[in-house]
Amino acid sequence: ARVLTQFLVFLYCKCLWRGLKFVIRKVTGRCELQRICYNNKPGARRTLKIESSLKCSKNELLQSAVSVHPDAVEKTIDDIMALKKINPDTNPQLAISLQASLFQIVGYRNLVLEVEKLRMEPYDCENPKHEEMLMKLWKALRPESPLTGRISKQWCEIGFQGSDPKTDFRGMGLLGLHNLLYFAEHDKATALQVLHDSLQPKHSKMSKADWEKKKFDKAIGYSFAIVGINITDLAYSLLMSGALKTHLYNVAPEMPSLVHFQQTFCYLMQEFHRFWIEEDPCDIMEFNRVRTKFHKRILKQLKNPDMALCPHFTASDLHLVNL
Ligand SMILES: *[C@@H]1O[C@H](CO)[C@@H](O)[C@H](O)[C@H]1NC(C)=O
Repeated sequence: ARVLTQFLVFLYCKCLWRGLKFVIRKVTGRCELQRICYNNKPGARRTLKIESSLKCSKNELLQSAVSVHPDAVEKTIDDIMALKKINPDTNPQLAISLQASLFQIVGYRNLVLEVEKLRMEPYDCENPKHEEMLMKLWKALRPESPLTGRISKQWCEIGFQGSDPKTDFRGMGLLGLHNLLYFAEHDKATALQVLHDSLQPKHSKMSKADWEKKKFDKAIGYSFAIVGINITDLAYSLLMSGALKTHLYNVAPEMPSLVHFQQTFCYLMQEFHRFWIEEDPCDIMEFNRVRTKFHKRILKQLKNPDMALCPHFTASDLHLVNL
């Protein structure tokens, strides 16, 4: 009986809400989509609301709008304007705003598919393209010291586990390699700094005497490439859960794409590194704890609809990417 009461209350609230929307529409002469655009600045604030309004709509056209192909966005907006009986000539800005938000929404959905595809593609040492990327990664991170062979202990210098990196990509497939290479080539100074620090036995504010004492203790740095692949996992789960929407809707005014995801990865690498030093773990056994805490912190930041995760990419960089 309690469940039934709850259900009836729910139904009642729902009807009340629909009735309220109807009244608001009659009074203001605006539909919900119009009000959202009118009351929220562009970016995550507006697009998140548009997205949930469309998804919750009982109209077929509005509901399916969020999953149209990017090529069909303009036509879909025309259809919505017609459905809502909004004259595009007297409301030119509305169509533009709705279109921008819908491009972001369908762009995010496509990005999810693209990222998933890369993750599902295993590293294949028979594939020359994969091998070439791996070699490029080495060159970007170790420009001064050429590899002595494809199978070499040198791979450990950039934080792989053994003499052949291919097995380390298992969890994240080609996505891990794409991210690491992007970081090494496009955010080079940061990547080299992070790699350098990760190779130090301990990153803390120890005095010189303490440092000497600790010198022969086990290394307390971390494996750069392995952590990079793991942070790829973190970025991937943020994307899949939808948590990255706030960030991507704020930094990609046209359409979130793979480049934005890779830039997010660069940011997460830099921030994780900073966080690792701050947390001052005893050794790598604490990785799980530090990672969980870091993940929670990022999730909390992403609850803020004004959040954008990339302070070290300037707006002009992002603009170039969008062109
Ligand atoms: C990353 O680390 C976490 C926690 O240690 C672990 O659960 C997860 O499976 C790792 N992911 C990858 C791809 O190695």
